[in-house]
Amino acid sequence: MVLLFIFCSLGRFAFMFAVLPVRPYFWRINGKHKITILSALCGSAVKNAFIRIRKEMMTEKTDSKKVLVLLGSPRKKGNSTTLAKKIIEGAEAAGATVEQIYLHGRDIAACQACYACQKPDSKGCAIDDDMQPIYQKLLDADAWVIASPVYWFSMSAQTKLFFDRCFALLAYKEGAFAGKRIAIAMSYGDADPFNSGCVNALRTFQDAFRYVGAKMVGMVYGSAEKPGEIKSNQTLMEAAEALGKKLAEC
Ligand SMILES: Cc1cc2nc3c(=O)[nH]c(=O)nc-3n(C[C@H](O)[C@H](O)[C@H](O)COP(=O)(O)O)c2cc1C
Repeated sequence: MVLLFIFCSLGRFAFMFAVLPVRPYFWRINGKHKITILSALCGSAVKNAFIRIRKEMMTEKTDSKKVLVLLGSPRKKGNSTTLAKKIIEGAEAAGATVEQIYLHGRDIAACQACYACQKPDSKGCAIDDDMQPIYQKLLDADAWVIASPVYWFSMSAQTKLFFDRCFALLAYKEGAFAGKRIAIAMSYGDADPFNSGCVNALRTFQDAFRYVGAKMVGMVYGSAEKPGEIKSNQTLMEAAEALGKKLAEC
């Protein structure tokens, strides 16, 4: 019996070496048939290992990071949006699934300070508008990208309306912000990020996300006036793409 086992094992190894030259063709065979062939050649241990690896690879694919992009400029081809699109390119290249939301034109009211969202057992924000489906998307996403132009030395009004309303997010889920990965993209007209007011907005985001326990992964910002002009800043475009990758990878 032992001899027979040794003989069979040696036979299997010999066969495996013999098939080495045809290995590239083997990988092209449909997954199910691969398992049958492996099972016949190498026994159940190798077959089970193969099934496990295949399963892990499939789960990895469906386990991609979800990135939600909030665009706060009224210009659809504007500079902050252009930066955000580069972040998206990087994130998608790293396997993330990305959803974009243009805040401009949405029915998002200003926070009315009713504090309904802060009451015990709150069901969420009392205002029934376009922010309601966004709350769910924010909760579902692993990472957020917030893109905004500098308007009057801070973020745009569209972005600020959205951001104030995030005050209610904790009412939808305990620890809603914890572990969220954040990237910020901003554009401004002045040549200097301090004089433009960009740094004020960046500080606002930094302070707020630190306060709620979200992780600031990075910020990209630059000077440009006409829509899309920021594309000519090659270094910045590369930094935005790299930020997208970083956002999706960890
Ligand atoms: C209402 C308004 C206010 C602005 N305020 C500032 C400002 O305070 N500082 C600045 O550097 N640029 C300011 N700008 C210029 C924009 O920030 C700049 O054009 C930016 O690239 C626009 O981004 P977008 O293309 O994504 O909309 C302002 C533009 C507008 C329309």
